[in-house]
Amino acid sequence: MTKPSRLLSTVLLTLFAVTIVGVVPRACAQHSFDKDSKQAKSRPWMNTSLSPDERAEMVLKQLSLDEKISLTHGNGMPGWGPPRPNAHLGNGGAGFVLGIERLGIPFIQMSDAAYGVRSSAENGRYSTALPSNLASASSWDPQAACEYGALIGRELRAQGYNMTLGGGVNLTREPRNGRTFEYMGEDPVLAGTLVGNRIKCEQAQNVIGDIKHYAVNDQESGRNEVDSVISKRAMRESDLLAFEIGIAIGKPGAVMCSYNSINGDFACENKYLLTDVLKKEWKFPGFVVSDWGGTHSTVKASAAGLDNEQPMDDFFGDKLRDAVRSGKIPMSELDDHARRVLRAEFASGIVDHPMAKGVVDVEGGFEIARKLAEQSTVLLKNADNILPLDRSKLRNIAIIGTHADYGMISGGGSAQVDPPGHPSKWQAHVWFPTSPLKAVSAKIPSATVKFDSGDNPSSAAALAKQSDIAIVFVHQWTSEGMDLRNLSLPDNQDALIDQVASANPHTIVVVESGTAVTMPWLDKVSGVLEAWYAGSKGADAVANILFGDVNPSAKLPMTFPKSEADLPHPQLVVPPPGAQGTAAVMRTGEAKPTFAVKYDEGLKVGYKWYDAENKPVLFPFGHGLSYTTYAYSGLKVTPGAQTAVTFTVKNTGQREGSEIAQVYAALPETAAEPPKRLVGFTKIQLKPGETKEFTVNIDGKYLSIFDESANAWKLVPGSYNIMVGGSSKDLPLTQKVNY
Ligand code: BGC
Repeated sequence: MTKPSRLLSTVLLTLFAVTIVGVVPRACAQHSFDKDSKQAKSRPWMNTSLSPDERAEMVLKQLSLDEKISLTHGNGMPGWGPPRPNAHLGNGGAGFVLGIERLGIPFIQMSDAAYGVRSSAENGRYSTALPSNLASASSWDPQAACEYGALIGRELRAQGYNMTLGGGVNLTREPRNGRTFEYMGEDPVLAGTLVGNRIKCEQAQNVIGDIKHYAVNDQESGRNEVDSVISKRAMRESDLLAFEIGIAIGKPGAVMCSYNSINGDFACENKYLLTDVLKKEWKFPGFVVSDWGGTHSTVKASAAGLDNEQPMDDFFGDKLRDAVRSGKIPMSELDDHARRVLRAEFASGIVDHPMAKGVVDVEGGFEIARKLAEQSTVLLKNADNILPLDRSKLRNIAIIGTHADYGMISGGGSAQVDPPGHPSKWQAHVWFPTSPLKAVSAKIPSATVKFDSGDNPSSAAALAKQSDIAIVFVHQWTSEGMDLRNLSLPDNQDALIDQVASANPHTIVVVESGTAVTMPWLDKVSGVLEAWYAGSKGADAVANILFGDVNPSAKLPMTFPKSEADLPHPQLVVPPPGAQGTAAVMRTGEAKPTFAVKYDEGLKVGYKWYDAENKPVLFPFGHGLSYTTYAYSGLKVTPGAQTAVTFTVKNTGQREGSEIAQVYAALPETAAEPPKRLVGFTKIQLKPGETKEFTVNIDGKYLSIFDESANAWKLVPGSYNIMVGGSSKDLPLTQKVNY
């Protein structure tokens, strides 16, 4: 090859890589480190071949007291008190930490990003809304969780942020919790595995990952002044196990401590949680960031293990400096806080990949949002195989429901994503412009598709009567800062469904909800789809499932109870009259919790409760239907450090599908555990008639109990029953093994 043509082919190859693979811009963004350069001598911590710990240590040695302090606090948040002196240096997100420019250490620009990047419209930007976190847990798919995190990571970077405040993983002890949609359901193994994969892939985009709210922040009512009372064993085996697994897989740079107190100490000054468990036992090397206004002290919080106060410096600004100067806080403790922040910056790559704002890939985001929604929508009921809809038979379709002509609802609070061009107000009901009416109409041009808002149930029922089928879109809005009083659909929607189904039994209900809902009308309708908060392209995903262009595969990450009377706490525990209220608790270091929620159900979270108490449920944990059927056989269990559970699944139906196979264990009676626990799962794709053998490896800890007196996990000797199947209530394979 002649020189020019070699040059040409190099250029072409490079262009190809830029266009198709996108590797070159990413590589260019990284500082290259030349060992002999001037920089190598002045900034040796820029050497990427050193470990994050070594690099952080080198920087720490250069810092003045003021610089160390600056790494331990925020500088205000738009709308949070009077603007701070450095407010103009923020990026419009919930908080930021100053950089140390002279040493090449960037600002940490934080944004909420539960199911997409927050406040984008307000800042003249755009974000994709993914399905809610609870929806994403319904996919039971670590790869889908990874795509979820990667998209959010990319959109954070494009919008000028290098730290996420996403990664919620509080277990659903209280399904009326208004933030249930921000979390990953009621089981620690499922929730921890998925949040960990989300964080891993989010951080791979060079943002600092976060997991929250640590811990047992399981209701919003009185969240700033409630004391969560719970045994260590119950916490370690459920709530904290979800964090432990998530942190082990995702290695987040930050853990956000929660607002509430746990067993008498606020989470952000709780030594047991922050130091004994998180930093010592789990060896978490990153930093602990307070929930917004969740810091209550200087000396106590610092000693307990809080590293960074957000969004202000009420306790970790001047007060921290004074405490270090007067010797109340040793310099080594401040060093530990600063070192952890620096380490997270190096480990996540935000130092080596300086911020470069870009444009969010809108179309790419739509594609991913739709695909993830398809993997997250749970088919709960399908009587007489009414679904998938048969295009050849339908002439008239009724679409019923508030805003079903326009869009689908989303979850509120700090998780709220703005719809294109519309800044959202705190706790407004926000509908994303993804129209069920349009999506269904587009699927079946041969039929007449008519809409009724359902505001007048009689007129909706009249339309249903004239139609071959009625599809009713119902919603339950939830948000941070509130809890539901009950799990009923609001605004008379139960009566609407009842009347529509009385007029036409071929009624399909599509539920847009943030948690479980009760369904007094269930026996009257033919089909139910749980679409959760379905994100930017929810309607297309739902239409694809309704018409069978996508075979549903999702399964419930939480139990749907028959009624609130069956919950561990039939009545939501709310602050007593005369409680201080949020503002009082957040403003003072003297605050004390004013009421307690006693989590007496202990180990019995979610399905473990209903199993142990023999309470029938509406839909069990792990339930979800498909347009095909599966048969399980051939269980083999081989105990070991990792127990291998091998079984065979056959697709016995007519369509290709993905089955989520679940492995549960019943521990020996002497372990005093609930009847069974999820210990593993896998998603299996099978063509019609295809049979495959699978092995799920079970981590020894998932079979163990936490022994409080020994402060250690232990495997209880005895006989274990290993069960495999398609839901927590459908486990055709069982085998006993001894440990
Ligand atoms: C929420 C956090 C959130 C923070 C910043 C708090 O009220 O509890 O989840 O990250 O605000 O917006």
